[in-house]
Amino acid sequence: MVVVRYSDTEVAVAAGDTLLSALERADITVPNSCRAGLCHSCLMVAHSGPVPAAAQRGLTAQQVAQNYFLACQCHPQEDMAVSLGGTERRHDAVLVHKQPLNDGVLRVRLKTDMPWFAGQYTSVWKTPAEGRSFSIASLPEDGQLELHIRRRPDGLISSWLEHGLQEGDSCQLSGARGFCFYTPGEGSETLLLAGTGTGLAPLYGVARQALANQHRGDIHLYAASGSPEQLYLVDELAELAERHDNFHYHPVVKCAAEQHPRLNQGDLVDIVSSRHHDLKQHRVYLCGAPAMVRKLQKLSFLQGAAMTDILVDAFEAPA
Ligand code: FES
Repeated sequence: MVVVRYSDTEVAVAAGDTLLSALERADITVPNSCRAGLCHSCLMVAHSGPVPAAAQRGLTAQQVAQNYFLACQCHPQEDMAVSLGGTERRHDAVLVHKQPLNDGVLRVRLKTDMPWFAGQYTSVWKTPAEGRSFSIASLPEDGQLELHIRRRPDGLISSWLEHGLQEGDSCQLSGARGFCFYTPGEGSETLLLAGTGTGLAPLYGVARQALANQHRGDIHLYAASGSPEQLYLVDELAELAERHDNFHYHPVVKCAAEQHPRLNQGDLVDIVSSRHHDLKQHRVYLCGAPAMVRKLQKLSFLQGAAMTDILVDAFEAPA
């Protein structure tokens, strides 16, 4: 008999029993449907104790790395502490730095104990009920959580971050979520990263994390904006490309690139799909405008990338 802790309750799980059944007997509600490892509605996360491998069959590498598992497939072998996969906990953070990167983007750095992977997203809360999600551009080893905020004079949270919250002030963050982050894998896959606007934030994090992990395969980062002035981190990325032979930076603009020979002019989807025909052995990361993400997701699949190797973060506008 092993003991699984869920919130403040300890639940005994008999040999051969699933965690889902044991929790239900203790009157703990876990969403579930198929009870066969197919629908993933019973997704939970382990905070301590080993996760049986069978309980993670069918999950992505990103979910496995974060200790997600399926309660209906979990026969615990040792004591564990668990919670629901979607449970939200908020973390304190302190603003340590903010800086406009151009007319449209603000860089914000926060100090927090919250764990994260570069490329995930978090919500910043102005009040307990008013928050917005932003992708994370920094690596945990950077020591500060970096967000790239699209500057909107009438934006509820973006305007508050730019003009209201001052360095040294506190705010709250939701736990980091999302699966758009780097996992080592073989280390030799080609990484294809494409984003629009502040979709660069998670891709910048993923690229730097891959380089920090000595990723051997080529890394192509396409960052697109409407005009040259709307691109940002251009010098940092060009410098990164100079330092790493396997990192290739491709800035893309819709128009007015004539004065800027380093820029690619055209549509991001057209440019990426015309240059990368065979995406077997590739991992693809797509972030930013939902229409672009959907188009390139489909094209990437048709060009040979496995669905589990296409990681997306579409920036849907808040309702
Ligand atoms: S209930 Fe469907 S995967 Fe567990």
